Amino acid sequence: MDKEKDINKRFKMAVERNFDQSAGIYDTFEEKYHLFETLTKKLCELNAPFAPKRVLDVGCGTGISTLCIHKSLKKPPIIYAIDISEAMLIKARERLTGKKGIYFVRGDAEKLSIYFHEAFDAVFYTASIFLLPNFRESIDQACKLILPGGVLAISFYAGLFNARGRDAFALAFPDLKYQYGTVNYEDLMKCLAAKKRFRTAQFDYRFEISKEYLFDFLSIPAQSAGVYPKVPYIERIPMIRDLCDKLTGKVRPLFMGWKFVVSRKA
Ligand SMILES: C[S@@+](CC[C@H](N)C(=O)[O-])C[C@H]1O[C@@H](n2cnc3c(N)ncnc32)[C@H](O)[C@@H]1O
Repeated sequence: MDKEKDINKRFKMAVERNFDQSAGIYDTFEEKYHLFETLTKKLCELNAPFAPKRVLDVGCGTGISTLCIHKSLKKPPIIYAIDISEAMLIKARERLTGKKGIYFVRGDAEKLSIYFHEAFDAVFYTASIFLLPNFRESIDQACKLILPGGVLAISFYAGLFNARGRDAFALAFPDLKYQYGTVNYEDLMKCLAAKKRFRTAQFDYRFEISKEYLFDFLSIPAQSAGVYPKVPYIERIPMIRDLCDKLTGKVRPLFMGWKFVVSRKA
């Protein structure tokens, strides 16, 4: 195996482990703030009028995005939802119990063509694309699965900002290099721009967050692992507390930023 493949494999195993550890805390965070539901809802709204018959939810996690897609559409579509983490999928299956036409698959988002052979009207990556080291492969496969007129809908974590839109992490900790996930947003946009049959639009979404919000967000194991990858979870918590104190002490007000990307196939 060449070096890059080996690094990617290790990264994916770490992501799987981190999300296996995150399922409970992830849902506790969501119950308090409804972040992931809001992101999916906004993505659905950006696609309006939108009446897909078949949807693929890539990196469905605990099913928050899956349920939101199901609820947001007048006629609920058939949804296939895939995730690499069994612990996240257990929660997703519980959340969607009793809902018809929803199928969960445990698998790797970079191997969509192995699991799916039918076409979709929409493929969603809500808060997941930046976790895929070989995201181009996943996007290539997703684009082939999308029907003409169908969409690729993505929410992408853009980071933390001050009121002027400057990177809050860089302002507060000039020596700490931090990028959540493995994908650079500009690389994602270049990848989409190269898809000749797709027309891509992007939107910014920013909102003010409190110190408590930041602490709760970074306390999700999969989030704090992005900041302190080598430190065991239990030891990360006081470090995260300290980081939140310093960050919100230096940057006030503090904003969280997301990008929405909608790419329509001709
Ligand atoms: C931040 S969560 C988002 C979950 C969900 N879409 C939501 O909106 O709540 C990201 C999810 O992507 C999944 N993921 C990461 N890498 C993956 C991969 N290679 N294949 C499939 N799922 C993956 C993680 O296990 C996690 O459940």
